[in-house]
Amino acid sequence: MSMFTTESVIGVIGAGTMGAGIAQVAAKAGHPVLLFDVAEGAAERGREGLAKGLQKLVSRGRMSAEEVDTLIGRIQVIRSLDEMAPAALVIEAIVERLEVKQSVFGQLEDICSEQTVLATNTSSISVTAIGSTLKRPQNLIGMHFFNPAPIMKLVEVISGLDTQPEIASAIYDLSTRWGKQPVHAKSTPGFIVNRVARPFYAEGLRVYQEGGADTATIDAIIREAGGFRMGPFELTDLIGHDVNYAVTCSVYAAYYNDQRFLPSLIQQELVSAGHFGRKSGKGFYDYSEGAEMPLP
Ligand code: NAI
Repeated sequence: MSMFTTESVIGVIGAGTMGAGIAQVAAKAGHPVLLFDVAEGAAERGREGLAKGLQKLVSRGRMSAEEVDTLIGRIQVIRSLDEMAPAALVIEAIVERLEVKQSVFGQLEDICSEQTVLATNTSSISVTAIGSTLKRPQNLIGMHFFNPAPIMKLVEVISGLDTQPEIASAIYDLSTRWGKQPVHAKSTPGFIVNRVARPFYAEGLRVYQEGGADTATIDAIIREAGGFRMGPFELTDLIGHDVNYAVTCSVYAAYYNDQRFLPSLIQQELVSAGHFGRKSGKGFYDYSEGAEMPLP
């Protein structure tokens, strides 16, 4: 019998760019979802953002209003981590910092049952390292969705050294049932996609830094001539520079400061200024007026 059914309660921690989307995916598959965020009102805003986004699908005739109500009705905002107790699977999508993730999972081990599977949506932090401070590291796995989670098919299912193989199989199967295309990966720095994508961002930033071309030109060329969905600047604006910079720093450190993964000072400046990209209204491009305008 499968480890999870549609009755299995799915917990999602962090209701930002990724957590809200992951909650939507689980609710769409029929699960009751518990959504928690440490920031006041963030989980409510995440849930409201989903409802708004889904309304657009209703106006295009791709979902009925009833389906949206049912889906959103399955997502319950909770105000304390203690309320995660009934979850069969908890997916964490919080800040990309090892010790914060370890602390949250440490608390969850005391709140949830011994059978609860704990999954991290980390982009780059070692699953083995997150598990190293846990009582039951065998229950911890990486379940790495891509942005936007409801649309992107890929899910990296990442096993740390202590992850139980049955849990990796169960998460792989569950991802498939959620309409995703999972891939098994080991806990190497950046896993598969974020490792391969590092030079995509880094070389784009270097061309820009050296004055080779401006951001809009580089993005347009990569998109139109290169056949990519997005160029490096519009993509990192979508990901969030705080997150993307943290991922680069984490991969850089994990490879003993290998210069191939050197973080960009330009991106560090954006992070320092709070210009995180779309989510803050400004990054390489300005989203504040609704119209997308390249910054000078
Ligand atoms: P975000 O900044 O949009 O949202 C993070 C949310 O977590 C915020 O609402 C924040 O209040 C909350 N949070 C922070 N610490 C918390 C804690 N201790 N307990 C509960 N909530 C807490 O970040 P985003 O982009 O959603 O990233 C979350 C995770 O997903 C990171 O590990 C990131 O590396 C990963 N990820 C991000 C992708 C992206 O494109 N942005 C893609 C795939 C993975």
